[in-house]
Amino acid sequence: MTRIEEFKPATAAEVEAFRIKLLGKKGEIGALMEEFKSVAPELKRELGQKLNHLKTTAAARIEALRGAIGEKEQAAASHIDDMTRPGTAERIGSRHPISIVKNQIVEIFSRLGYTVADGPEIEDDWHVFSALNFPPEHPARDMQDTFFIEKTPDVVLRTHTSSIQVRTMEHQKPPIRVICPGRVFRNEAISYRAHCIFHQIEGLYIDRNVSFADMKQSILYFAKELFGEQTRIRMRPSYFPFTEPSAEVDVSCSICGGKGCGVCKGTGWLEIMGCGMVDPNVLEANGIDHTQYSGFAFGMGIERIAMLKYGVGDLRLYFENDVRFLNQFDSAL
Ligand code: PHE
Repeated sequence: MTRIEEFKPATAAEVEAFRIKLLGKKGEIGALMEEFKSVAPELKRELGQKLNHLKTTAAARIEALRGAIGEKEQAAASHIDDMTRPGTAERIGSRHPISIVKNQIVEIFSRLGYTVADGPEIEDDWHVFSALNFPPEHPARDMQDTFFIEKTPDVVLRTHTSSIQVRTMEHQKPPIRVICPGRVFRNEAISYRAHCIFHQIEGLYIDRNVSFADMKQSILYFAKELFGEQTRIRMRPSYFPFTEPSAEVDVSCSICGGKGCGVCKGTGWLEIMGCGMVDPNVLEANGIDHTQYSGFAFGMGIERIAMLKYGVGDLRLYFENDVRFLNQFDSAL
């Protein structure tokens, strides 16, 4: 006869098969019951009790086995065997440093009343160059810098997000206050300090009586918010076809505080953006009366700002998506 102690089932189905073998209608205990009918009357009482005891203990043991197996199977299915054990933390991704810095810049300018404007990456000559007062022979249109998709009609990848400013002026009458983040493309050799794809944020402010002083104050506010209250700015004369006068903006080096270090190459200053008063030709080309309105524009590379903010020495790291690099950045923005 089967010994219940030796039975080591692995599944509930095995327990059920065992139950049928033992307690089923044609099972082993059932067979004993059949035999019991023919035992001598004087033995019936004693044997009957033993048989009943056997039957109830077998049923109880099988029930216990069924319970144990059930728990095991449930635990295996849900992978929870100890509800009190501390959980394993899920690793979640972090925001890309370029997104973090972009969001910070957008947030700072939104406090000054700027809204975000967007535009296409595939552009035409008008929005990237002509509407921005680039003379036809200007070298920036040259194949050296611009990726042409088709030469006639001109289909180009935008080389700066100033094209979004043109699109904004097409649809909106002054006052205009927009900030334009986006990817731009230039035909440059990839190195630690240049890439053929990078990100810019440009801003445009047009209203009555907008002055150079307004621009300077807005940029100073921005620089202090981004790099810290102690930050100073300086402007150097520069040239852009779409602004007059134009300037290059430097901030005091956030690493050495202006004393001179490796990052600022001993100068104490870091170049962060170009800016200028919108050229009257640009206003007129975009249907804005330059006798009534004036404005300023500025533009910066997000990779460069992020390099200065985080001390990143090689621009290519932003594009390689190595998680060991990306995991170092964390921000709620
Ligand atoms: N568009 C310029 C660039 O790509 C930046 C800029 C924007 C300069 C607005 C002045 C004013 O370099």
